[in-house]
Amino acid sequence: AVTPKIAPSMLSSDFANLASEAQRMLDFGADWLHMDIMDGHFVPNLTIGAPVIESLRKHTKAYLDCHLMVTNPLDYVEPLAKAGASGFTFHVETLKNDWEELIQRIKSHGMRPGVSVKPGTPIEEVFPLVEAENPVEMVLVMTVEPGFGGQKFIPQMMDKVRILRKKYPSLDIEVDGGLGPSTIEVAASAGANCIVAGSSVFGAPEPAQVISLLRNSVEK
Ligand code: DX5
Ligand code: ZN
Repeated sequence: AVTPKIAPSMLSSDFANLASEAQRMLDFGADWLHMDIMDGHFVPNLTIGAPVIESLRKHTKAYLDCHLMVTNPLDYVEPLAKAGASGFTFHVETLKNDWEELIQRIKSHGMRPGVSVKPGTPIEEVFPLVEAENPVEMVLVMTVEPGFGGQKFIPQMMDKVRILRKKYPSLDIEVDGGLGPSTIEVAASAGANCIVAGSSVFGAPEPAQVISLLRNSVEK
């Protein structure tokens, strides 16, 4: 059975105090820390890379759920593994026919592979990767255009989540973008179990309450 994983997006944290921000989220009940890695090319924003993951890893044992919004994910496998990344979720839009090697390399470096789809990408594109002999272990359905926190949830993306959940009852299905108390019900009832939330958690007066509300919705 799928279990809830609540993953605050550290993109909404104070990067100058990343270790304490991360610890604060774990103390508030977070399961994972969602780390948005952008290259200024696949998306029009630039964030963090392996050196920052390596620094954070020295301060926490938490699962670091890395979301690679980069044009060449293969180049990031070795540096991120050495830095201490836990999950490695690449975008299907970046692939040619090299995904089997990519998944293999992610696993052989001890990380958990995932694949993500932008809002305009049909969900069918991930089916071969989920059904492969050496499959991805999570699908991340983007519910905003990747690149920035604080955007509005796109409810039409729930069709993708429903299709995935029906086809793959035990798959980890993650949603990312605009998730919070007002959108979690629709996402959880569509079948999402891994919930990324940036601005709704970091902007809340009581982040612990938001995290437990997200968890309760998934568990229902
Ligand atoms: C956007 C990132 C998200 C972002 C989510 O490209 O992938 O993880 O931080 O932020 P919110 O929850 O504020 O939409
Ligand atoms: Zn993300």
